[in-house]
Amino acid sequence: MTGAPPSPTPKPEVRSGLVGVISHRSSISSIIGATLTYRGINIDELTENGTFEEIVHLLWEGSLPRQPELDALKAELQSAFPLPGAVIDSLRTFPQDADPMRVLQAGMSILGMHDPDAASNAPADNRRKAARATAQLTALTCAYHRVRKGNDPVDPSPALGFAGNFFLQLNGREPDAIETEAIDKALILHADHELNAATFSGRVPSSTLSDLHSALASAIGTLKGPLHGGANRAVMEALEEIGSVDKVEAWLEQKLAAKEKIMGFGHRVYKHGDPRAKHLKLMSKKLGELTGQPHWYAISETLEALVTAGKDFPPNVDFYSASTYYCLGLPPDLYTPLFACSRAAGWIAHLFEQYADNALIRPRALYTGPTEAHWVPIDQR
Ligand code: ACO
Repeated sequence: MTGAPPSPTPKPEVRSGLVGVISHRSSISSIIGATLTYRGINIDELTENGTFEEIVHLLWEGSLPRQPELDALKAELQSAFPLPGAVIDSLRTFPQDADPMRVLQAGMSILGMHDPDAASNAPADNRRKAARATAQLTALTCAYHRVRKGNDPVDPSPALGFAGNFFLQLNGREPDAIETEAIDKALILHADHELNAATFSGRVPSSTLSDLHSALASAIGTLKGPLHGGANRAVMEALEEIGSVDKVEAWLEQKLAAKEKIMGFGHRVYKHGDPRAKHLKLMSKKLGELTGQPHWYAISETLEALVTAGKDFPPNVDFYSASTYYCLGLPPDLYTPLFACSRAAGWIAHLFEQYADNALIRPRALYTGPTEAHWVPIDQR
């Protein structure tokens, strides 16, 4: 027999951390250089002009809402805030010092048990679940915080938008215009970010045709880590540890000498700046001045100058969100939950995309263990 010789088996390439691997096609958000867009619209334009509800519509439906569509979505989210009584009862059984991200992950699973459309992945059912899960994640964050402090959950107000209701349900008072603006901008800036670790981990369960709540619980657990969404809380711990501007340099030298990561700096994709950071930096400065605590911004700015002078690690989205949230009065362990409340919108857009054009996500591993091992009876081991 003649013919071409069989082509050699390609040498398997292992990409640790999936660096540079493109696993999906997606039309939701894009990162090109230092530009982030949602459905093609630059995040700068969205942050300057939009509200979170408009962004939710953009991410889920693919276009900015017309007024009747926006009104309908607002009403849908508003009516979805109230948690089932059994979920609030569950919150009361959690330890008072539980990490709120654990509470959100567990709470999302419990919400799935109570959702009337839980078992179905049909698009219309998933769309209804999407509004409930998005609103209820915020309600859950706020209710747990109140319950752990010995307070009762607070009802949302139909007079407020999503950002205002986050603040109201958390603090029991309506926010002023600046507080509303800060929360709204934070929600917009965190709403989606291409195929980050949490979004990928949400797509994995949906690729097995598991349900939306299970996929969101997976994404929440992934966001929690300090190399990802958990960095904003770690940044605040660092700022508190530093304490004042004159101590920044010595603190940084010591951390770098110990080869520790500086939280809130660096990014897998952005190597020359995270386009979200500048918006949070402006908010951090403004809120610091307005609330009479400008030192958090001053410490942050000094740290940024020193880190970026010595290394090419620009601040990421988590860096200035820490001082912004501190000035808004948020406890540091709620910084990552606020991130999750926003990112739920993006996760859900990705789940819609995954269900609509599904392929089971199942990569391979390069086996490095023994090959010629055999069973050894227990008395001979
Ligand atoms: N501080 C100190 N060194 C850093 C930092 C940092 N913040 N970021 C990267 N480096 C160094 C690494 O130590 C590594 O050095 P080496 O090559 O000498 O070993 C090199 O830069 C490459 O870093 P990796 O961690 O391998 O790169 P990767 O792309 O995996 O990192 C990551 C991205 C995880 C975000 C990293 O920059 C980091 O750990 N930053 C701090 C945590 C953080 O802020 N995470 C939030 C990111 S934004 C988000 O997820 C919402």
